[in-house]
Amino acid sequence: MLVHIPSLLSPAEVAHCRDMLAKADWVDGKVTAGEQSAGEKRNLQVPENAPVARALGDLILSKLGKNERFNSASLAMRVFPPLFNRYDGGMNFGTHIDNAIRFVPASLGSGAPIRVRTDMSATLFLTDPADYDGGELVVLDTFGEHRAKFAAGDLVVYSATSRHHVTPVTRGSRWASFFWIQSMVRDESARLMLFDLDNAIQGLRKKVGDTEEVVGLTGLYHNLLRRWADA
Ligand code: NI
Repeated sequence: MLVHIPSLLSPAEVAHCRDMLAKADWVDGKVTAGEQSAGEKRNLQVPENAPVARALGDLILSKLGKNERFNSASLAMRVFPPLFNRYDGGMNFGTHIDNAIRFVPASLGSGAPIRVRTDMSATLFLTDPADYDGGELVVLDTFGEHRAKFAAGDLVVYSATSRHHVTPVTRGSRWASFFWIQSMVRDESARLMLFDLDNAIQGLRKKVGDTEEVVGLTGLYHNLLRRWADA
């Protein structure tokens, strides 16, 4: 699955992120890569404990919490503190799979390290697509290849079980935030059915209002969520 979530950040919020990131210290992106993906990863990152990363990460988390489409698609239980990366000319990230479990270091959390099972991966675009060439996120799943290169401020959420890569940037520089989500619904097909059902109910409500049947379907949605979710 791959879900596009337009305008998670407003243009003013994107500009704020870019201003702050322009002043940050960037390091080799291999610092957060697993052994296999480190060989494929050619980009720059802001260190995860840098104050600028944490301040912008908190802004993103607060926007995620209020975004209906994100919440419906992810049914998020935990979100890894957002990280920030950059691909300058010639940089890319070859085909890889994300680690299944990530640790939020004690220094970023409330004491003990927290484990996050990466059910979904997310990329938040922070550069206008007109300002760079290449730098497409390509996600491979059983339905083939999906390409994502969206407006600055847009988010894409996709299954972390997929193999994926970022094509080389051939002009300009591509800035983004990236993070992972542990869903309350571990099973991807169940999560996708809930997303489809929620979308259908929301569409129906707009057409016919809260009829007895719509309330019945809403009840069904919540009862399936109760059956499938860990909270
Ligand atoms: Ni990845």
